[in-house]
Amino acid sequence: MLKPLTAVAVFLASGALAQQAADSIAPEAAGSGAFAEISPEVTAAFDAKNAGTPVMAEDWMVVAANPHAVKAGADVLAAGGTAADALVAVQTVLGLVEPQSSGLGGGAFLVWYDAASDAITTMDGRETAPLAATPQLFQDDAGEPLGFFDAVVGGRSVGTPGTPALLEAVHARWGTQDWADLLAPATQMARDGFAVSPRLAGLVASDAERLASSDATAAYFMPGGVPVKAGDTLTNPDYADTLAALAEGGASAFYTGDIARDIVATVQGAAGNPGVLSEVDLSIYSVKERPAVCAPYRAHEVCGMGPPSSGALAVGQILGLLEGYDLSAGPEDANVLRLIGDASRLAFADRGRYVADSDYVPVPVEGMIDPAYLAERGKLLSGDDALPEVSPGDPAFDHALKWADDRSIELPSTSHISIVDSMGNVASMTTTIENGFGSRLMVRGFLLNNELTDFSFASHTDGTPIANRVEPGKRPRSSMAPTIVMKDGTPVLAVGSPGGSRIIGYVAEAIIAHLDWGMDVQQAVSVGHAVNRFGTFDLEAGTPRADQAAALEALGYETSVTDLTSGLHMIAIGDGLQGGADPRREGIALGE
Ligand code: GLY
Repeated sequence: MLKPLTAVAVFLASGALAQQAADSIAPEAAGSGAFAEISPEVTAAFDAKNAGTPVMAEDWMVVAANPHAVKAGADVLAAGGTAADALVAVQTVLGLVEPQSSGLGGGAFLVWYDAASDAITTMDGRETAPLAATPQLFQDDAGEPLGFFDAVVGGRSVGTPGTPALLEAVHARWGTQDWADLLAPATQMARDGFAVSPRLAGLVASDAERLASSDATAAYFMPGGVPVKAGDTLTNPDYADTLAALAEGGASAFYTGDIARDIVATVQGAAGNPGVLSEVDLSIYSVKERPAVCAPYRAHEVCGMGPPSSGALAVGQILGLLEGYDLSAGPEDANVLRLIGDASRLAFADRGRYVADSDYVPVPVEGMIDPAYLAERGKLLSGDDALPEVSPGDPAFDHALKWADDRSIELPSTSHISIVDSMGNVASMTTTIENGFGSRLMVRGFLLNNELTDFSFASHTDGTPIANRVEPGKRPRSSMAPTIVMKDGTPVLAVGSPGGSRIIGYVAEAIIAHLDWGMDVQQAVSVGHAVNRFGTFDLEAGTPRADQAAALEALGYETSVTDLTSGLHMIAIGDGLQGGADPRREGIALGE
């Protein structure tokens, strides 16, 4: 039996750990290599001593990326609210205190286990391309793809936000507490002010030039031209007013009326890089309920978000490809890393060919996670060395069209929330504004996303269309992988992470760490990362993975030792609850 801890005790203990982790964040710690040159994220040097032990509880648990947000969710859960209620409180506080990662101007995917009906469903609150968007949105006059940040900064990259509508839909369906009360903690904190965290301060400092591209954004994050510092008290009365409007009018106060007009004016008026988002786009936005994508692994069902996310398909493929292999030697074994790394490369090859918004292009969802397909394709892993080359497979596909490969640029940002309530409901939600600080456009106290840059900038290769090309009303492919793992029809794990397309590797690795390596959730979120998407093994600096570079190179891989700033937030559900928060960010677990 797990030992219950009081909410206050857990908060203080974990808060100290969070502070230690936060203290280790420094702008100069940003990663190395070509990626780091364009990374907007300040990364935390990994420090295993901050990993700690899992937080244990019996009744409810919440894990998210900032102690203020976790505390807001914990208060809701302690008062008898559901995980859906808590999500509203956590997300609206995150939008204030971790504005660079998620918020009202972004989108999210929720995987929900409903205890009353014993059912899993997924809710798609993904941003959506404006009706005026074309496949050439991110191309210059010669048809060449724009530079990434030329596309990101400004109005062009802004899709219709989904988060306000998602929160309202989730609350209407599974919430029990008063909507306005759930917005009150963030509203109050926005008016009273909050202490800028070390991570937010570091990110503002490192992104100052891009933040200066918009007057409203610069005025908030760099008042008087000086970047906010850790510990500064920041108020956001505009955000408080926006939340007050939502409290009174619901999500329609966001999608129509003055707020919608301001969003559109900001996007269309962005100097140098205007966008095409319109009031019609906002007014027709809808949340989509979609069936969960569940893949078998070691007598479990790993369930997550299907298209437009590639998350559940890629995580499910990696695990399915590995089903026939013994990984018990653990992460210190180079052959185990080879198996996981090449399984990931195979999954990314299928992802790049086949996955996009299934409302626009046929996606072979069933075929891609068919155990027979994965068992056959998994035979490619039976050698001793790195696969010399990797190409997409041929999953069963009842559609004649084939697509050209694509590799959209996705940089690490985003945030993940895992919650279990006292009724046994489980929420696993990954939430984003895409790049750190999104489009850098701020309106009414929140940042607007740049999610449209998750589309492929190229629309065709040699005349063959790319599945994830821009189309009007389409949702860009995501890597977000909010996950609930089931065993014998019961939820046993909730997990997810930020991290761009590395999200897929982080989540698959955390599940393997828990199920194959027997790690508790805190160990599983803390273990050093080894991620391989397209051939190069990214090995986490400051961890034992970095020391395996030579062994992996001997197997035929290129390696890159770098900071890998996941934000894994994981809850194990069994004879009690165990929570683990990624020591690389500022999050905590809190339960009772
Ligand atoms: N923009 C992050 C993702 O959706 O994967």
